[in-house]
Order: sequence, then C-alpha cells, then structure tokens
Amino acid sequence: GRTRMATCECVALSVSGLCLVYNVALTAFRASTFEVFNVTETVARSVSILFINLAAYSLSKTENPRAQALQWVLVGGAVYLSHLDRLKNVVGKVPRPISLGRKVYIITGSNTGIGFETAKALLLQGATVILACRSVDKAAEARNELLKLTHCPSSSVIVLRLDLCSFDSVREFVKAFRELELPLHALINNAGIMMDKREVIKGTDLETCITANHFSHFLLTNLLLPDLEKTAGRVVTLSSSIHRLARTFNFDDIMTTKNYEMFANYGQSKLANILFTRELHKRLTARGSRVSAYAVHPGAVRTDVTRHMNAFMQTGNAICAPILRTMQKTPPEGAYCSVIVATSPELPLHPRKYGGQLFFHGEVVPVSAAGMDDAAAARLWKVSEQITGMVETK
Ligand SMILES: NC(=O)c1ccc[n+]([C@@H]2O[C@H](COP(=O)([O-])OP(=O)(O)OC[C@H]3O[C@@H](n4cnc5c(N)ncnc54)[C@H](OP(=O)(O)O)[C@@H]3O)[C@@H](O)[C@H]2O)c1
Repeated sequence: GRTRMATCECVALSVSGLCLVYNVALTAFRASTFEVFNVTETVARSVSILFINLAAYSLSKTENPRAQALQWVLVGGAVYLSHLDRLKNVVGKVPRPISLGRKVYIITGSNTGIGFETAKALLLQGATVILACRSVDKAAEARNELLKLTHCPSSSVIVLRLDLCSFDSVREFVKAFRELELPLHALINNAGIMMDKREVIKGTDLETCITANHFSHFLLTNLLLPDLEKTAGRVVTLSSSIHRLARTFNFDDIMTTKNYEMFANYGQSKLANILFTRELHKRLTARGSRVSAYAVHPGAVRTDVTRHMNAFMQTGNAICAPILRTMQKTPPEGAYCSVIVATSPELPLHPRKYGGQLFFHGEVVPVSAAGMDDAAAARLWKVSEQITGMVETK
C-alpha cells in the first residue's frame, strides 16, 4: 500500500512538474520566433501551474486520502491549463466553412506545405484554384492528391508554371493565366524560401530569397491588379513574425552581399512583405480601388520550409521533432489564417481597420516599428519597380 501511494505521488508530481516545464518551453519557443501572444495571460497560466506544483507537493506529504484525491484534481488542472495554452496559441481556430461558389484563387507555391493546405481548404468550399508552382511535375502530383482528397471536379484545379526566381516566368505566368479567361478573386502570395547560404539567380545579381519572396510577388501582384480590380479581389501575402528580426529594411545592401545570415536575410524578405502590403493598400486606397491587401503570419508551422537549412540545423530539427511537433501547427492549421483572410466577407467592408494589416489566427496583430515605416514602404516600392522593370499598371 505505502509503495503504491509513493508511486502515485511521484507520478502526480512528475506530471504537474512536466506541465510547468512544457509551459515555460512553449513560451520560450513562441518568444524565439517573435510570435505575438498575450504575455499577461501566459505568465498568469505559468504561475498558476507553479502554484499547482507547490500545492501538489505539500499535499503529497500528507496521508489523508482526501488530500490525495485533491492532488489528482490539481494535476488535472495543470494538464488542462497547459493544453489550453497550446490550443489558444498554437493550434488556433478552425475555419467556419463558407461557400465560395465559382471564385478563382491563385496560390503561389501550392504544391506543398501551407499553400497546398490552403488550396485544399478553398477547394472544399467550392472554389477553383490555380496552383502556381515552379515544378510542373510536383504541382501535377499535388493536383492529383487534391482531387483525391476533395472530390472536386477536375476542372477546379489548374496547374500553371511560375518560377519566382525569374521575372520572365512571372510575366509568362500572367499571360498563361489570361489565356484561361477566368476571373480572379484573390492572389495568395504564399511561396517562400529560406536559404542557409547566399545564392544569386544565375546570370544576375539578384539574391534568391528576397527575389522569390518579395520582388517576384511584387511584380506578379502588379501585373494581376487589373484582373483583381474587376472582382474587387484581394491580395494576401504570407509574411512572418520573423519580420521583427530586421530592425530596419537595409536599403544599402538589398541583395545582402555582406554579412549574410539565413534568418536575418529571411527576416528582411518577410519585412519586405509587410512593407509591400502596407504601401499597396495605401496606393489602392488613394486611387479608389476596390482591391484590398492583407499580410498573414501563419504561425510556426511544421513544413518543409527548413529544407535549405544546414545539416546541423536539420539534424537538430529532426531530433527535437517529437517536442517541436507539439509546439508547431500542422500545415492545415497553418493554412487557417490565409483561408480566412482570402475569403472572409467581413474584411473588405472595413478597409480602415483591416486594409494593409498583418493577420495571425485570423486577427490583426501589430507589426514591428520597421514594418510601420511608411517612408521605407514607399522607397521599397520604387526600388521594386526598378528591380523588376515594372511600369505600374492602373
Ligand atoms: N512554416 C512556417 O513556420 C512559416 C512561418 C511563417 C511564415 N511562413 C511563410 O509561409 C509561406 C509558406 O511556407 P511553407 O512553410 O508552406 O513552406 P514550404 O513547405 O517550404 O513551401 C514553400 C513553397 O514555395 C515554393 N517556392 C520556393 N521557391 C520558389 C520559387 N522560386 N518559385 C516558385 N515557388 C517557389 C516551394 O516550391 P518547391 O516545392 O518547388 O520548392 C513550395 O511550394 C512562406 O512564404 C513562408 O515564408 C512559414
């Protein structure tokens, strides 16, 4: 009897202790990815779990059966609180399905990850989706998978080649899209890349990450604006909380020729996504356009975005996978915000409140000071026009 009791106490204390450690680790993980979360609520939750630990410890010293039962109730509370933390801050919400009728969406980089899941969610709501991908083979495979998963008509999923490392490819994509004679209700600038080592696009001085993540999406968006205008459509651009890593946009070295570091460079490209969305919204509003623009932070999502990291980081990522998985969203969870922002009827009704903003879990979240720099946004627009060789279409 005594040994059994001791084992029970030991289990109870370990479980509540683990809940505390997990809660702190989850908070540290969110902070390390610059995620915006409610600090007061998170601290209150951790402190409550700490008190539960202390209470469970003192109860374990007594031999009163009621106290022992209470100990288990407290442990249940600790488990509930840490689960709640995950549910609120990691998993987020589930989209309320709405019917998209025959609406058409272009999603860049939709052969895998968040883009693939965004396509799936839109197809399940009756939309037509253009998979804009650099590898037609990978996109064709994704298309088959999507048709199998959604049972939608085969005409609802269209593959068009788009390599964001080539401005010519962007122009060809737009031409090919126009030949389909379809309307366009939203452009989802989803494709993104993070490179361990600096790379330039062959035959150019263009650094891969900023070109694929920002400049090509800038060109693509501007070329498609006349199509979006006809439907009062939207531009949804995937950014990241990592944009906070860039303290200012580095106009002196846009192609990061000096001091290249993977996260800093990726952060700068994601800051460009924020500044682009802000300036786009401003310009659209100024000319009385019906098109709206939003940025999205999908959260920390377990996808292949890590594929170009170095071997050391990839090994660490693989070893920590069981723990990381509980702290990161699944790709369908990661697609939630893109889907909401691309489809919610509410957003275009309140351009002042929502236009040009960054969304996370379907809600507006603050961006960094650098992300609110209107002068930098305007300057980046000019630079982007020059680099992409684009003449603004009215
Ligand atoms: N996962 C996260 O935790 C996270 C967090 C914050 C923001 N985001 C953002 O969310 C977006 C989607 O990320 P993900 O996690 O789903 O990444 P992913 O699984 O790596 O998917 C990225 C997609 O972008 C495509 N892509 C890369 N370079 C391209 C190019 N030059 N031309 C055309 N397509 C290209 C990839 O095509 P291939 O398959 O051919 O390489 C792939 O389809 C990105 O913008 C990312 O920055 C992700």
